[in-house]
Amino acid sequence: MKAKLTLAWVLTVCVTITWAAAHGQYYSKTVPYSPMKEQVTNLHFFFHDILGGKNPSAVLVAKANNTTIGDKSPTPFSTVFAVDDPLTAGPELTSEVIGNCQGLYASTGQDNLSLVVYFDFGFTKGEFNGSAISVFSRNPVLETERELAVVGGRGKFRMARGFAQLKTFSVNQTNGDAIVEYNNRVIFCLAVILCVAAAPAQGEYYSESVAAVPMQQKVTKLHFFLHDILSGQNPSAVMVARANLTDGDKSPTPFGSVFAVDDALRVGPESNSEIIGNAQGLYVSSSQDANNFAIVMYIDFALTSGEFKGSSFSVFSRNPVSEPSRELAVVGGRGKFRMARGFAVLKTAYFNGTNGDAIIDYNVSLFHY
Ligand SMILES: *[C@@H]1O[C@H](CO)[C@@H](O)[C@H](O)[C@H]1NC(C)=O
Ligand SMILES: *[C@@H]1O[C@H](CO)[C@@H](O)[C@H](O)[C@H]1NC(C)=O
Ligand SMILES: *[C@@H]1O[C@H](CO)[C@@H](O)[C@H](O)[C@H]1NC(C)=O
Ligand SMILES: *[C@@H]1O[C@H](CO)[C@@H](O)[C@H](O)[C@H]1NC(C)=O
Ligand SMILES: *[C@@H]1O[C@H](CO)[C@@H](O)[C@H](O)[C@H]1NC(C)=O
Ligand SMILES: *[C@@H]1O[C@H](CO)[C@@H](O)[C@H](O)[C@H]1NC(C)=O
Ligand SMILES: *[C@@H]1O[C@H](CO)[C@@H](O)[C@H](O)[C@H]1NC(C)=O
Ligand SMILES: *[C@@H]1O[C@H](CO)[C@@H](O)[C@H](O)[C@H]1NC(C)=O
Repeated sequence: MKAKLTLAWVLTVCVTITWAAAHGQYYSKTVPYSPMKEQVTNLHFFFHDILGGKNPSAVLVAKANNTTIGDKSPTPFSTVFAVDDPLTAGPELTSEVIGNCQGLYASTGQDNLSLVVYFDFGFTKGEFNGSAISVFSRNPVLETERELAVVGGRGKFRMARGFAQLKTFSVNQTNGDAIVEYNNRVIFCLAVILCVAAAPAQGEYYSESVAAVPMQQKVTKLHFFLHDILSGQNPSAVMVARANLTDGDKSPTPFGSVFAVDDALRVGPESNSEIIGNAQGLYVSSSQDANNFAIVMYIDFALTSGEFKGSSFSVFSRNPVSEPSRELAVVGGRGKFRMARGFAVLKTAYFNGTNGDAIIDYNVSLFHY
């Protein structure tokens, strides 16, 4: 009941803002807003990702021309899959279907199998029929227990933030089929919590929604250099698709080209400086005007040493590469950066327009719990 009231209130605010936009202007006056009480809901269900058989729920849509040679895995580095995966209440595919997961994932680990997922989990049963959550982060599939970042939601999960804890239930290594158990904690209406929430009742995929316990926010700053190497025998960024129109374009990153990356994060700009993490995901060359070269990044930055080892944050943002100083949006995080928001300030330390290699200075501010 509380949830409903909260949502109604939010809706009113949005409507008011919409109507207040002056004629001929695309934005309204910005007005103060008092945050509403947050709610926590736990979800528990099984996710079936089926690559084999006549009716696969995950299909290959793109991959690099070269990197997959000799790789026998069903999901080699740089492969991108589109999915419409069933979500079920129990582990059997024959158990009740409670929704589906649609979106993309990319295989982004050069050394060890790892995915970055771009998923919308839509529910079709019970109280949350018609509502959905958006998940965007790394999924280190080889780890038996892992966490993904919930970065948004629709319907009753409007403005959700949260995290999903996963355990692989069974996997067929030959064809890549996987059944994954998702235990999502979804927190809706702005901020955050780690709190005692009711577990889903037997036979339900969701718990009762309860009021969230407010938590103190923390800020962490990071400084590192991203090495995005397109050239040579061991590139860290490979093109997985490009528009047919640009086939004659000699630029290393023509408009419309999509790259899969597993870029090193180093403490310095030198190519032998210490590695403290890696950035995995996709980017697309998104500017028609070659003089204003820009990409949009869909990338998970993970740290592999120190206090934040195993934690990562998700960047979904335009990067106007040709500007000397620029900012990116951080939309979520995992581990110690759970439910992070923030921004990154970037400067180019090195860029070679001929082969596309770039070394970028990153200062990241993360607000998390
Ligand atoms: C594949 O890589 C080889 C060596 O790096 C290169 O000579 C060749 O042009 C590449 N082929 C394609 C289709 O990209
Ligand atoms: C890959 O996995 C192996 C075994 O789990 C581990 O020792 C190694 O550090 C991993 N490599 C990377 C780059 O994460
Ligand atoms: C879910 O919502 C849709 C659209 O409102 C409706 O057609 C359908 O019957 C609902 N399903 C359940 C199980 O409530
Ligand atoms: C795994 O997939 C292979 C190839 O599709 C199939 O032959 C095999 O029976 C599957 N194994 C299990 C345990 O389902
Ligand atoms: C792969 O190679 C074909 C043939 O050379 C080319 O048309 C296509 O654009 C290449 N794709 C990528 C992603 O480089
Ligand atoms: C690329 O465009 C040409 C000319 O329009 C067309 O013949 C060809 O089939 C297209 N190739 C792909 C891969 O779409
Ligand atoms: C990041 O911060 C360091 C230390 O304050 C500074 O030297 C560096 O220039 C900054 N880099 C960017 C991209 O702002
Ligand atoms: C840029 O890349 C090209 C092609 O790999 C290379 O010949 C050139 O030396 C590079 N320029 C710089 C400044 O590193």
